[in-house]
Amino acid sequence: MLNPNLAPLGHYTFARLNEVLADCPPRVNEPPILFSLGEPQKPTPSILAETIAAHDDQWNRYPPPIGDEAFRDAVVGWLHRRFDLPEGFVDPARNVVPVPGTREPLYQIGFLCTPPEKAGKRPAVLMPNPFYHVYQGAAMVGGGEPVYLPAHAENNFLPVLEDLDEDLLARTALFFLCTPANPQGTTASADYLKRAIELAREHDFVLALDECYCEIYRGAPPVGGLEACAALGQGLDNVLSFQSLSKRSSAPGLRSGFLAGDARIIERYGQFVTFGGSPLPIPVLHASTALWNDDVHVVENRAYYAENFRLAEEILRPHMDVFIPPAGFFLWLDVGDGMAAARRLWSAAAIKTLPGSLMARDDSHGRNPGEPYLRVALVYEPEKTERGLRRLAETLF
Ligand SMILES: Cc1ncc(COP(=O)(O)O)c(C=O)c1O
Repeated sequence: MLNPNLAPLGHYTFARLNEVLADCPPRVNEPPILFSLGEPQKPTPSILAETIAAHDDQWNRYPPPIGDEAFRDAVVGWLHRRFDLPEGFVDPARNVVPVPGTREPLYQIGFLCTPPEKAGKRPAVLMPNPFYHVYQGAAMVGGGEPVYLPAHAENNFLPVLEDLDEDLLARTALFFLCTPANPQGTTASADYLKRAIELAREHDFVLALDECYCEIYRGAPPVGGLEACAALGQGLDNVLSFQSLSKRSSAPGLRSGFLAGDARIIERYGQFVTFGGSPLPIPVLHASTALWNDDVHVVENRAYYAENFRLAEEILRPHMDVFIPPAGFFLWLDVGDGMAAARRLWSAAAIKTLPGSLMARDDSHGRNPGEPYLRVALVYEPEKTERGLRRLAETLF
């Protein structure tokens, strides 16, 4: 009755978190602080609600499957402002399509881009370890074998591309890379991205670049996959970039993003939407267009997170060698035993964090690369962030 491919998925990360914390309820009277979830708590920019309201006569219309010209022009305009791309590099008609947030298409790309066999074998779906759990879902739903590539601190928390052997590359259907990375906040260099793209082209697989944190950075803007494509030539072949308003505009509830990349995959995704996917409702499409056209709120957003990281450095530095990541909004703290620390923080301080082991799978030596870490989402306004981090430091150190 049920598709057996999906059985190994088991529980979703946050359901697992509740399970592992179930036997240690908070013993304090303080209100809980949820540093566990990467959900932006900053209010959404007012243009969102205003634009939705201005189009409230359009809820009675079926939305167009691939958005409209204004949306596609807005996202291409943003891509060209945000990244160093040659004029006309991204064709709004062929290289972009709106998506209802990126989680759904990251999952769906598994069955859109995994053939039944590759090089006569079961296809492989590569992902870094630790990783955003949806990549594993993509592998399962497409019938591929999830292959977890070690992503350690000494390699900037990215898989080592030179370690991928020819047999594996030959049967690879999809390779997920997250840059800036969730959970570690590190970013891939242009050279790294170029090499990954070359591999995708040499072995004809899809390089799925999850770039939803690319607007949340502290120093220089992280390089993007499309820039690496522009530097290499051959257009956007074999590459797909996943972009979202969830982090950029603090709007995860809007469910809005887009895919940019290889015209063949974009076309296939558009067909898929006409049969069974979810197009963006017209008022949401208009609001998304307005948000992609505006950069002012994103500058404010960056300042909000930068202040939280400044506080983290000030509060934690006296106690540990805290790594302040160049991008994203997570601290990835090496606390020795992330599970023990998470349980202690919850029971003694009502602070929920995510043990790194829940974002990773055991490697071939039976070691979980996330085990020493704790992921702390700095999503609250600075005042609450400071309160939470002080409580965290008092409890752990
Ligand atoms: C790495 C990563 N990719 C994708 C997503 C999905 O975001 P959305 O579906 O809201 O665009 C998230 C959300 O937390 C994420 O952390």
